[in-house]
Amino acid sequence: MAVTKKNLVSGQATYYIRTFGCQMNEHDSERMAGMLEQEGYARASTPDDASVVLFNTCCIRENADQRLYGNLGHLKSVKDSRPELRIVVGGCLAQKDKELIQRRAPYVDVVLGTHNLASLPRLLRESHEEPSFEILEQTEVFPSALPTRRFSPWHAWVSISIGCNNSCTFCIVPAVRGKEISRRTGDIASEVEGLVGDGVIEVTLLGQNVNSYGRDLDGSPLFAKLLRALDGINGLERIRFTSPHPKDFKADTVAAMAECERVCEHIHLPLQSGSDSCLRRMKRAYTRAKFLDKVDMVRAAIPDVAITTDIIVGFPGETEAEFEDTLSLVAQARFDQAYTFQYSARPMTAAAEMPGHLPKEIVQERFERLVALQDEISAERNERMVGRVEEVVVEGPSKRDPSQKNGRTRTNKLVIFTAEDVPEGSRRSVRVTGAGTHHLKGELVSRPPLRLPVLQAPTRA
Ligand code: SAH
Ligand code: SF4
Ligand code: F3S
Repeated sequence: MAVTKKNLVSGQATYYIRTFGCQMNEHDSERMAGMLEQEGYARASTPDDASVVLFNTCCIRENADQRLYGNLGHLKSVKDSRPELRIVVGGCLAQKDKELIQRRAPYVDVVLGTHNLASLPRLLRESHEEPSFEILEQTEVFPSALPTRRFSPWHAWVSISIGCNNSCTFCIVPAVRGKEISRRTGDIASEVEGLVGDGVIEVTLLGQNVNSYGRDLDGSPLFAKLLRALDGINGLERIRFTSPHPKDFKADTVAAMAECERVCEHIHLPLQSGSDSCLRRMKRAYTRAKFLDKVDMVRAAIPDVAITTDIIVGFPGETEAEFEDTLSLVAQARFDQAYTFQYSARPMTAAAEMPGHLPKEIVQERFERLVALQDEISAERNERMVGRVEEVVVEGPSKRDPSQKNGRTRTNKLVIFTAEDVPEGSRRSVRVTGAGTHHLKGELVSRPPLRLPVLQAPTRA
């Protein structure tokens, strides 16, 4: 066991991780957990008496920054009474704020950025002498070999690329995650095969722009081929991915989605704005008409596909007419769900320097109009499901009523249904009996869901 001296006041050293931000961070947290477990730490379910507390941070919007410093302030008082506690800050905000974290919170023991996760055990050991700090400017090779402690027995995040080569003017991600690096297809397939061997039935492929996957490997995007390769893995039931960029989302991916049985009937296609002039200022490289064409293309190829999106309200200079273009696109596209954000100026982004930042009241008022419209559409999309029998994977007891279970359809809709004794990660058939804005209600039916065909031949080269 590599855990040393001071953190072991009594018994086993433990760690607690709090993750902010997106799925990439969730997955990075699993890798940090994997490395710590390899070092002899055990996972703690609360921060209260953990030897190490890690914050894996996000900086996509300003309130993410404020939350971190608020949480650190709280931990300071814990550390005052328990000085052996080690506090680690990693992730995108650490990458952005660098030395500032230790200046604002000098009691933090370790700061590491997004490009050097693997240094965590070493930095933690060094921090017994004095606070340790390490931020690199770029990942050199894809970090595939890190040990991972999965937080779910049946679902796994699988990183296919890291970083982003786009320059959307509102977005800080390229500045904190670096340039795009794709992982080799064979490595991804081997990992997925290993995961299936461990009992995983669903994987979510992760990349900031999955449709440009492979461009840095052989000059052309390979995402559709990757989907087809993974679709041949016996025992895998569901393949999800996030996110495609609309500019790179093309017919080859749609065809792969339609033809691969394991690929779920859901796509998250981030819109950001329905106005051509706004999209131009955002440097999104598509128009309203092109975006709508992609929506039509997916719907034509995959009946009943669910489409979700991200939208930013109040981008600098957004006029009432531009905002109304977003409303009209939303009315036309009929997304199943939209994650709506109020624009937040970020350092190291072009939009932060643009004129026309809008007052909070205008942004709030537009935001509420957009949410009201989308809520109506989400409810209507869910209502269409009532009466159907859907395959769900059981996620666990419902938070509100533990006698009910939560599950997800292949279209990624949350279904709350009455059932006893259905284990987490099992597949069941559920009849949809009711619909709300953000969930479906259902009841178990006795007929089990169909299994996917087992392929006889070796499935990949
Ligand atoms: N790579 C993903 C986006 C990752 S960030 C993609 O291109 O789809 C997730 C979402 O956060 C974005 O889609 C955007 O809607 C939102 N977002 C990013 N920067 C923002 C900002 N400065 N203010 C408000 N929302 C922002
Ligand atoms: Fe940010 Fe755009 Fe890259 Fe997405 S594609 S991470 S929004 S720069
Ligand atoms: Fe994700 Fe937030 Fe970083 S959205 S990539 S954790 S800035």
